[in-house]
Amino acid sequence: MVKRADIEIRLLCRKDVPHSAAIARAEGWNQTESDWLALLRHSPEGCFAATSNGMPIGAVTTIRHGRKLAWIGMMLVQPEFRGRGVGKRLMRAALDHLLQAQTETVKLDATPAGLNLYNSLGFTAQLAIQRWELVSEILPQVDENSARQSVDQLRPAIHALDRMAFGANRSALADDLLDRRFIEATVATLSHTPVARGYGIARRGAVAFYLGPIVAREESVAVGVLDSLLGQLRGRRVFLDLLAHDEDRANFLVARGFALQRSLSRMSYGKLNSAATSRLIFSSAGPELG
Ligand SMILES: CC(C)(COP(=O)(O)OP(=O)(O)OC[C@H]1O[C@@H](n2cnc3c(N)ncnc32)[C@H](O)[C@@H]1OP(=O)(O)O)[C@@H](O)C(=O)NCCC(=O)NCCS
Repeated sequence: MVKRADIEIRLLCRKDVPHSAAIARAEGWNQTESDWLALLRHSPEGCFAATSNGMPIGAVTTIRHGRKLAWIGMMLVQPEFRGRGVGKRLMRAALDHLLQAQTETVKLDATPAGLNLYNSLGFTAQLAIQRWELVSEILPQVDENSARQSVDQLRPAIHALDRMAFGANRSALADDLLDRRFIEATVATLSHTPVARGYGIARRGAVAFYLGPIVAREESVAVGVLDSLLGQLRGRRVFLDLLAHDEDRANFLVARGFALQRSLSRMSYGKLNSAATSRLIFSSAGPELG
């Protein structure tokens, strides 16, 4: 029996990453060490580890987008230490950190295992998030003339579209995902202007390639972006997390051979706002990022 006194909460650091990533992998999570390191780069004072006799046995990460919004992710406790209040202490550390920084709203994507904990702390459900996996490639005919442009000159256009859709400025995060992209990110632009109509990023995961975020002004553009990314990932295992506003929302995924794998709940704490719930966001940047 592990006594509560043996368990400490402290800042997560780079040397904890291999261990934390291993706990996440054992849980079947898709995040890689590179994802953990990115969170530490963005938020060195906002990621926490639970340790037992010095060994990491749990973690939680936060990322702030100014004062308006923060995201909590990677909430994880090693199985043999669960049900002893470790998760609650990690969440308290994350929330205290964010509230000290006067964050107005905190959001997260809850697994069924985390729901009780988040409900008990005052989070409320806002939107369903569905994990979809490509199970049989019904590959669309990709229009080779579709506007797939080199992303680097278009970063300002991506930032502008993302800020409008997400409802908070996560440009630094978008840049980090673009820097770590596995294939050329796809951007659709209004013809002859540097205004982005949609964009999508694919990165490596521990289990499957991850398509997200996909953000677009119209569904037809989102579908074009998705098809362009899928066209570059033939034969690979692929996941995405859909913002499931309504049942019809997933039709284009089903038509492409995706199957529903699990459901999460996007939850909110503090001042209620619409950040990260817009219909212009088709797929999330990741449960740990929003
Ligand atoms: C979710 C998780 C982090 C909770 O950690 P934990 O250390 O077990 O949580 P705690 O012991 O602090 O429990 C917190 C609250 O949740 C409740 N709870 C914990 N596990 C539960 C379970 N399996 N079923 C129902 N309630 C549960 C506890 O009763 C407690 O409520 P209380 O304070 O009113 O008694 C842990 O189960 C885990 O790592 N799960 C797998 C990964 C995951 O899904 N993470 C969540 C991502 S959003």
